[in-house]
Amino acid sequence: MDYAPHLAQCRRLLALMQDDGDVLPAEVFHMTPDVYWRPEHFALERERLFFRAPLVLGHAALLPRPGDTLVLDVLGQPLLLVRGRDRQIRGFLNVCRHRGTRLCNAKEGEGGEVLHRTNFTCRYHNWVYDLDGRLKHVPLEDAFPGLDRAAYGLTRIPLAVREGVIFGMIDPDATMDIDGFLAGIDGDLAAHGFGGMHVYARRLARRKANWKLIMDAFLESYHVVRLHQSTIAPFFMDKMAVMDRLGPHQRSLLARQEFVELADLPEAAWDGRRHCTFAYAIFPNTILVLSPDYTSMLTMYPEAADQTLYCHTMLTPHAPRDAKEDDHWRRSLELIEGGVFQAEDLFIAEQAQIGMASGANKTMVYGRFEASIRSFHESVDEWTGARSVVETR
Ligand code: FES
Repeated sequence: MDYAPHLAQCRRLLALMQDDGDVLPAEVFHMTPDVYWRPEHFALERERLFFRAPLVLGHAALLPRPGDTLVLDVLGQPLLLVRGRDRQIRGFLNVCRHRGTRLCNAKEGEGGEVLHRTNFTCRYHNWVYDLDGRLKHVPLEDAFPGLDRAAYGLTRIPLAVREGVIFGMIDPDATMDIDGFLAGIDGDLAAHGFGGMHVYARRLARRKANWKLIMDAFLESYHVVRLHQSTIAPFFMDKMAVMDRLGPHQRSLLARQEFVELADLPEAAWDGRRHCTFAYAIFPNTILVLSPDYTSMLTMYPEAADQTLYCHTMLTPHAPRDAKEDDHWRRSLELIEGGVFQAEDLFIAEQAQIGMASGANKTMVYGRFEASIRSFHESVDEWTGARSVVETR
C-alpha cells in the first residue's frame, strides 16, 4: 500500500480496532421514507440530479475495438457509446436525426451485450451514420433539397473517460466539468489501476426497489456479518469500517479477518486487497467494491421511484490466462453476483421498498455504523433541494 490517503485511512481503521480512536459519530439520525417512494421526489431527482450530474455509463474495456457499441437507456434517454475508428469513445443519443426512430435496439435487460457495427443504419428509411456520428448516406437524397448532411449527425452527449471509467451526461445540452466533479476521488481511481482492468462479466437486472435503497445497502457495514452470514460474513470483522468523504463521493475501508495481522506488520507490507476491502461510492449512483482479486462496479440506473436497472461489471486485473483462473473468477462471480448481490442485497432492498409507503415508519432510525448513508443522502439533497435527513427532537 503506497497511496498516502489509503495509508491514512488504514491507520484510522487500525486505531479503531485497537480502540484508540473514537472515529464514529456519536449520534443516531433519522430519515423520512418518503424519498424512497414518492413519485414527486423521483421527478425532482430525475430533473435536478440525473440530468445534471456526470454518471458512470460503463468501462472502456467493454469497447475494445472500433465499432464496439454499448446500448443503454438511462432515465428514458436512449444512449449509444461507440468506439470510433480513431479509438476515441463517443456518446450519442440513440435517435435517428430523420424522424426520431431508435437507431440500435436496446439489449439491456437481456444480458447487456455489446454490439459491433461498421456504421449505424436506421431501419426505417436507411439513413446511414458513421461511427463518429456523421451522416454518411441518405437514400433518394434528391428528395431533401438543400439538406446539409453536416447538420444532421447524431446528437452527442458530453462524455469523458477517466482511468477506464466512462462518465457521461444524459442531457445533450449540458456541459460537463469532469475534473472538478471527480476532484478528490480521481487519485484513488488511478492508484487502483482501473484503467488497465479487464471486463470479465457484465450482468444486468431490473429490480423493484428505489435506486437509493440499493445504494444504502452498499454504504454501511452494519449488515455484512448479519445479512451475509451464509456467504461472505466469515471474511469480515464486525463493526470495523471507516469512511472518508471526497466531495460528494465516499471512500470506505472494511477490515477483513486478516486485518489483525496489521498491528505486527510494517506499513510497507499492508495489503489493501488482502487485509481490508476498499469500497467507493461514486456519486450519485455507482459503487466500487475491491475484492482480493477482482473489482465489482455496480451502477444503479433509476427507472421509476420503485424500479431500478442494476448493472454489475466485474473487472479483473487481466483476462483469464488459463482454465484454472477462468474457473476461479467464474465461481467468484457466481458467489458475489448470484449469492450475495442478487439473493441478499437486492432482495432485501426490494423487501424494504414494500415497507417504505406502508406507514409503518414515519421516520427511520440509523445508528452510528450507518453514518455513510447520511452523508450520501445529504449529497443527494444538495442537488435536489429536498430534505431526507429529518430532525426528530
Ligand atoms: Fe431514420 Fe427515417 S427515421 S431514416
